[in-house]
Amino acid sequence: MEKPKPIKRHEALQPLSRQHHFGLLFSWKIRKGFAKEISISRMKAYADWFFEKEIQPHFRLEEEFVFPVLGPENPLIERALQEHQEIKALFEDTKEPSKSLSILEEKLKDHIRFEERTLFNKIQEAATISEMEKIDEIHLQISTPDEYTDAFWEN
Ligand SMILES: [Fe+2]
Ligand SMILES: [Fe+2]
Repeated sequence: MEKPKPIKRHEALQPLSRQHHFGLLFSWKIRKGFAKEISISRMKAYADWFFEKEIQPHFRLEEEFVFPVLGPENPLIERALQEHQEIKALFEDTKEPSKSLSILEEKLKDHIRFEERTLFNKIQEAATISEMEKIDEIHLQISTPDEYTDAFWEN
């Protein structure tokens, strides 16, 4: 059977899609960390860094520029906002970081897939030209991510 053609990501949404790629890498690194029995405190330090540098700004941009295209009543947006809350709570949890990191690894991946496969397609279908121009301003607000020095996932 022929595979469905992937929908081309609108240029304005590409910076966020690039960050999604880093998010998937984050999940992979955490999974790798568990497999290598890296200490939780070491992984948690990385997760805290990633939350501050990548996740928080990313959520802010989506909520400010992208989600308003469909509006808060839209069930896809309700789901996305709900997942942002859940992911944020998992990153911020200090009581059971081992459990939280393990759930987070899965949940972040699912959230990104939902946005890439469903939500962003709907957004680019529904957005007016001026909404897309506004989303395009995201390019100005995103810089290249820093490297994290303690690469526990390597080797
Ligand atoms: Fe999101
Ligand atoms: Fe996202």
